[in-house]
Amino acid sequence: MIIKKIESRRARCGVIGLGYVGLSLMVAIANAGFRVTGIDICQQKLERLKNGISDIPDVPDSVLGPFIESGQIQVTDDYSVLSELDTVNICVPTPLSENKSPDMQFITAAVQQIAMHLHTEQLIILESTTYPGTTEEIILPMLQKTDISGTLQVGQDFYLAYSPERIEPGNSTFFMANTPKVIGGVTTKCTQIANTFYEQYINKTHTVSSPRIAEMVKLLENTFRSVNIGLINEVALICDRMDLDVWEIIDAAATKPFGFMPFYPGPGPGGHCIPIDPHYLSWKARTYQYHARFIELASEINSSMPKHVLDKVIQALNQHRKSLNGSKILVIGVAYKKDIGDIRESPSFEVMRLILDNGAQILYHDPHVSNIILGGEDIYHSETLTKSIIESVDCVVILTDHSNIDYELIVRHAAVVVDTRNATHSIQHSSSNIIKI
Ligand SMILES: NC(=O)c1ccc[n+]([C@@H]2O[C@H](COP(=O)([O-])OP(=O)(O)OC[C@H]3O[C@@H](n4cnc5c(N)ncnc54)[C@H](O)[C@@H]3O)[C@@H](O)[C@H]2O)c1
Repeated sequence: MIIKKIESRRARCGVIGLGYVGLSLMVAIANAGFRVTGIDICQQKLERLKNGISDIPDVPDSVLGPFIESGQIQVTDDYSVLSELDTVNICVPTPLSENKSPDMQFITAAVQQIAMHLHTEQLIILESTTYPGTTEEIILPMLQKTDISGTLQVGQDFYLAYSPERIEPGNSTFFMANTPKVIGGVTTKCTQIANTFYEQYINKTHTVSSPRIAEMVKLLENTFRSVNIGLINEVALICDRMDLDVWEIIDAAATKPFGFMPFYPGPGPGGHCIPIDPHYLSWKARTYQYHARFIELASEINSSMPKHVLDKVIQALNQHRKSLNGSKILVIGVAYKKDIGDIRESPSFEVMRLILDNGAQILYHDPHVSNIILGGEDIYHSETLTKSIIESVDCVVILTDHSNIDYELIVRHAAVVVDTRNATHSIQHSSSNIIKI
């Protein structure tokens, strides 16, 4: 019955958690012709969405607005709507707690609500990144427990699956529809129904044998990135001591048409995924008496990179007989990666904190981030990048290699430039004032 409703677009869909993932998903489902209800607990966000205002650049107001106006997308904080919905995708945050263990509170809060409104022929899919076992060990018992009559059985009466979200903020080549979706249901029927649902708006789906496999796939993908970034950061640290240009080496190695994939060093990975997800895996591995050494070592090296950048700034100033204490430093780029305004877990903040702690003054320029809070309460505004501002500072540090920045202007007028992203690679003439990591 639910399959027919999905295939005929009569199914009423719901998305819980309207952030980067949930908002994009809600629009993708609506684009396929479904009516969608988004549920979130953040009142300010709901107000903006009700006015057709999106928080994320990948979902422009021009796309969201018409769906809100026509009523095809509705948003609410009222969970009772769940009893009218045929499909529910959970896209709530999965952060780390203070001791770097998984913080499941957002998932359990959402599932408690679903449990109260669970009904026959309902499809529940978890999309939040999490450790293997979450769907079957946490969600399934919570849903089956609510079964007052004792007749709602997973795979027969309701359907439960896990499907990791793979969107990358700012990636205009790969977006939701053309990024294959991995799906693992609790039973074969759960997988089949979830697969049918995704087939309506994702070009290619890939089913796996269980939710645990699908959960592990996501952690493998992100741990793969974290470990490779950790490796290349370590190679950069070695090259630094050997006075070798790591960037030239990577470019040359990347000419090998097989068996090598380029990763690049930098001030450290940021964003919602790479700094967090590997800890989910190493935490779960510990419950199996396994200490995930590679994964933890990579995180350790990656989180040491801001200190390495600080050392480079000190070295750059030293060359000009200046100390960091009392200097004025212009930071270029505070977002965690190029061409987006996302500052979550951005390593730029750790670098700036270290610079401030050492008695220097900070200015910053980021075309995508108009203001930031540093050192507790202090609000900083993005400076306009001019010759006079570049000349007024003792050192310029490039932390994010945004495309639309005049690196030529920076190199021409800065006393010294610390380039952590090789953003100045094409500027040949005055490279003597550039220090790379
Ligand atoms: N951002 C990414 O690029 C990305 C990519 C792939 C996977 N993920 C994963 O997807 C999940 C969501 O990430 P995100 O970046 O969209 O997070 P986000 O912080 O941008 O958004 C989460 C939203 O959930 C809402 N929320 C929290 N608790 C809720 C509750 N109980 N009920 C309803 N709404 C609730 C918050 O108000 C917020 O709007 C995480 O597990 C993340 O690791 C993120």
